[in-house]
Amino acid sequence: MKAILVSQTGGPEVLHLQDRPLPVSTDLEVLIRVHASGINRADLLMRQGRYGINSQPPAEPLGLEIAGVVEQVGAEVTRWKIGDRVCALIRNGGYAEYALADARHCLPIPTGLSFEEAACLPETIMTVWSNVFQRMHLKVGENFLVHGGTSGIGVTAIQLAKAFGAQAFATAGSDEKCQFCETLGAVKCVNYKTQDFVEELKSFGIDVILDYVGGDYTPKNIRLLRPDGRLCFIASLGGAQTQFNILEVMSKRLTITGSMLAPRDGDFKAALAAEVEKHVWPLIETGQYKPILYKTFPLEEAAAAHRLMESSEHIGKIVLVTT
Ligand SMILES: NC(=O)c1ccc[n+]([C@@H]2O[C@H](COP(=O)([O-])OP(=O)(O)OC[C@H]3O[C@@H](n4cnc5c(N)ncnc54)[C@H](OP(=O)(O)O)[C@@H]3O)[C@@H](O)[C@H]2O)c1
Repeated sequence: MKAILVSQTGGPEVLHLQDRPLPVSTDLEVLIRVHASGINRADLLMRQGRYGINSQPPAEPLGLEIAGVVEQVGAEVTRWKIGDRVCALIRNGGYAEYALADARHCLPIPTGLSFEEAACLPETIMTVWSNVFQRMHLKVGENFLVHGGTSGIGVTAIQLAKAFGAQAFATAGSDEKCQFCETLGAVKCVNYKTQDFVEELKSFGIDVILDYVGGDYTPKNIRLLRPDGRLCFIASLGGAQTQFNILEVMSKRLTITGSMLAPRDGDFKAALAAEVEKHVWPLIETGQYKPILYKTFPLEEAAAAHRLMESSEHIGKIVLVTT
C-alpha cells in the first residue's frame, strides 16, 4: 500500500510517499480501506519531534483519524462486518491506503456524510467531549471560552458548547476568522491580534476555558474566570512555562487541569467513543453539528497539507484523500 512516512524530524519536506506492507490486524481490530484521513496539529508536532516528551517521529505513518470501509474483521469483532462505512480514532497510521483500528474506536459514518467529512470527526469530538464535558463538566447556561476558535478543536467546541446549552465565546487571529466563529454560534469572538480578550470578555464572565495556547494566556485566563471556574490545557502552542497568582485560584476556587488523548489506553478511548456516539452522533444526524471541512489534498500531497496547516490560514479541518 501507499503511505506517507516521516524520514526524519523536520519541516513538511520530510514527509515521503512509500510502499509499505499491509498492516495485519489482531483479533480485536478491523482493517480499514482508508478513503480520507484528518490532519491534526499534533501530526505537525510529531513530524517536528516536538510532541509531548517523545522527540522521535513515529516509525508508522502519521494520522490519528480516518474514514473508510471495513476490509477485514478480527476474529473477536462482533459489531462490524466487511463493507461497513466507519470513521475511527487510531494510534497513528492514517496517512495510508489501509489502517488498523481497535473495533471499539470505530463509529458509523453518520447518514449523508462523505468520507472526507467523516474524517473530520473523531479526534476533535473525542477531545472536546472528554475535556469540556467529562473533565470540566460544562453546564447549561454557563459561559464557555475556546481559544483558537477556527482550529479543528475550536469549531468543534463552539458547536458542542452551544448544542448543550452553554454560551460559547472564542478568540481567533483575524476579523474574518472571528466572523466565522460568530456565524457558527459563538456569542462573541475576540481578534486577539488587535484586542485584549480579557478586556473584551470580562463583562460576560467565563466559567469554563479550553486552552491550547498556555504561556502568557494563563494569568489572563485565570483573571477572566468566574468563581468555581475551570481551565483545561490540551496543548501549549504559546509556551509550556507560565506564572500566575495562586491567591486568585484560591479566592475563586478555580480548577486547573489538562489532558492528552493519544496516550490514553484502549479502554478509555472505547468508553469515550461510546459516549460520543450516544451524545454527539444524534446531533450530527439532525444537522445540529456539522463537520467544517476547509480543504482536501491527495495523500501524496501531505507536505502541502502540512504547509497549509502551518500557515494557520485554514478555518476548520484539512483532510487527505486516497483514491
Ligand atoms: N491534548 C489533546 O488530547 C489534544 C487533542 C487534539 C488537539 N490538541 C491540540 O489542540 C490544538 C489545536 O489542534 P487543531 O488540530 O485543531 O489545530 P489547527 O486546526 O491547526 O488550528 C490551530 C490554530 O490555533 C491558532 N493559534 C493560536 N495561538 C497559536 C500559536 N501560538 N501557535 C500556532 N497557532 C496558534 C491558529 O489560528 P489563529 O489564526 O487564530 O492564530 C491556528 O490556526 C493543537 O495544539 C493540538 O495539539 C490536543
